[in-house]
Amino acid sequence: MLSSKIAGIGKYLPSNVVTNNDLLKYMETSDEWIQERTGIKERRYAHRTEETTTTMGVEAAKIAIERAGITPQDIDFIIFATLSPDYYFPGCGVLLQRAMKMKEIGALDVRNQCSGFVYALSVGDQFIRSGMYKNILVVGSEKHSFGLDFTTRGRNVSVIFGDGAGAVVLQPADREGQGILSTHLHSDGESAEILAMYNPGTHANHWKEEKYASFDDAEIAQMFFSHAMIDDGQIFPYMDGPAVFKKAVVKFPEVILESLTKNNLTPADINLLIPHQANLRIAQFVQQTLKLRDDQVYNNIQYYGNTTAASIPIALCEAWEKGLVKDNDLVCLAAFGSGFTWASALLRW
Ligand code: UT7
Repeated sequence: MLSSKIAGIGKYLPSNVVTNNDLLKYMETSDEWIQERTGIKERRYAHRTEETTTTMGVEAAKIAIERAGITPQDIDFIIFATLSPDYYFPGCGVLLQRAMKMKEIGALDVRNQCSGFVYALSVGDQFIRSGMYKNILVVGSEKHSFGLDFTTRGRNVSVIFGDGAGAVVLQPADREGQGILSTHLHSDGESAEILAMYNPGTHANHWKEEKYASFDDAEIAQMFFSHAMIDDGQIFPYMDGPAVFKKAVVKFPEVILESLTKNNLTPADINLLIPHQANLRIAQFVQQTLKLRDDQVYNNIQYYGNTTAASIPIALCEAWEKGLVKDNDLVCLAAFGSGFTWASALLRW
C-alpha cells in the first residue's frame, strides 16, 4: 500500500502582533526574561470576536486545498487537532466542514496538544495507506489568547503561547519511498497533571472537600464551572515548566532517532528537522544532541510563540514557502507536550 504525501500546505497567522513589551501592561515580566528563557520576541493574537480556532483553521485549509489543486468538495475526511476548540463539544472538525461547505464526510478531532498535528498526520496516513480515503485535510489550529491568565500569576505560561493555524492535504504518494515514511507515537500519563487545564472537567477534585459531602447530584452538576474555580485561577492552563523542559530534551531526540533508525537513516541524512516550537532552548538542545547544523533545523518561535498543534504545520509551511523544503528532501517532524505525549514523522518530500 502506498503511503501518503503532503500535496498542499497552508498557514494562517492573525495580523495582530503582540511583542514582549506589549505584555508588560498586564503582568510583571520583561522582554529580556522572555527572550533569554524561550527565544520568543513576539506572537500573534487572534481578533477577540471575529477569529476563532475554526476560522483560522479554515483560512489555512483554503490555501492547502488550493495548493493541492483540488476543491473543498474533493476532501473526503477531516482531522482537526487543537487544545483550544471553539466549543467544549462538538469539536472544530464539524465546524470547519460546515464553514467550508464540504460534503457529509467524517470529521475527527484530535486532543493531543503539542503532539496533536503529528498524531493527526499519522492517523491520516493510515487511512490513505489502507485505501479508505484519497484527500484528507489535516488541520492544527489554536486560539490560546482567549484562555490565558494575563496576570503575573500566570506569566510562566501566558508569555509563551500564540495563536495561528496550519493545514495540509494528504494524498496517496506518487511512488514508493515518497511521502510519509513512518510515524511514531508515544505517551506516558504519569505526569498528566503537570501540563494541563483541569477545568471544566469531570474530575470533581474541587468538590472532594468535606464541606461538599452533603451536596446532592443536582448541586454538584452546577459546579462544573464555579466562581471559586475562577477566583483560584483554576480555569487556566497549569504548567510545571522546568519538569516539562527536562522530559522534552530527552524525548525529542529519542523519537527523532527512532524514526531514523526505522528507516536505516542517521541525523546526517536529515535535510530539515521541524521541531514543535515549544521553546527555542529546547530546539537548540535537540540540535546539539543530534549534532545537526543550523541549516538542518527550522525554528520560528521567535515570531509566533508556541502555537501548540499549529506550530509544526505553520513552520513547515513557512519553510516550504521560503524554498527550504525541496523535492526528495528528508523532512523530520517531532513533537512533545502535555500528556505527556510525543511523536515523530519522517517524510521524503
Ligand atoms: O509546548 C508545550 C510544552 N511546553 C514546554 O515544553 C515548556 C517547557 N518549559 C519551558 O519552556 C521553561 O520551563 C519556561 C520558559 C516555561 C520557564 O523557564 P524556566 O527557566 O524553567 O523558569 P522557571 O519556571 O524555573 O522560573 C524561573 C523564575 C521564577 O522566579 P524565581 O522563583 O526564581 O524568583 C519565575 O517566577 O522566573 C520567574 N518567571 C518569570 N519572570 C519574568 C516565570 N515566568 C516569568 C516571566 N517573566 N514571564
